[in-house]
Amino acid sequence: MKILILNGPNLNLLGTREPEVYGSRTLEDLNIYIRDYFKKTELEFVQSNHEGELIDQIQKAEGSYEGIVLNAGALTHYSYAIRDAIAAVSLPVMEVHLSNVAAREDFRRNSVIAPVVQGSISGLGAYGYVLAVRAIAHQAIHKG
Ligand code: DQA
Repeated sequence: MKILILNGPNLNLLGTREPEVYGSRTLEDLNIYIRDYFKKTELEFVQSNHEGELIDQIQKAEGSYEGIVLNAGALTHYSYAIRDAIAAVSLPVMEVHLSNVAAREDFRRNSVIAPVVQGSISGLGAYGYVLAVRAIAHQAIHKG
């Protein structure tokens, strides 16, 4: 089983970026933290600051992965192109945010991808990724 962990813009700055909001783990630390939970699941980690690259990754994932765990960063709040890419593929996409986006600025309360993802996890820090991988793995194991 293979699952793609896809991180969007500015998540490469984790560790130094607003540590009071996103914690002190770097992106590499976060990936190691997630990987440690899953011994039998193959995880692929991709981060990009570019909307088009994230869309290419979502399109390419079809057929290669059981699902995608996506933290689209600020693109979550306005990218209809990412929303359409998610709607165009049949594999489950789980939306993850490290911070509790509902408790922050107004613009973060709206997710344009929320209606087309399978589920959303927000505010649980790194463990949110673990829960999202678990949810995809659970479905893959139990689907017909
Ligand atoms: C984020 C929340 C977004 O609003 C923000 O733009 C990010 C990170 C999170 O993980 O909490 O870049 O997706």
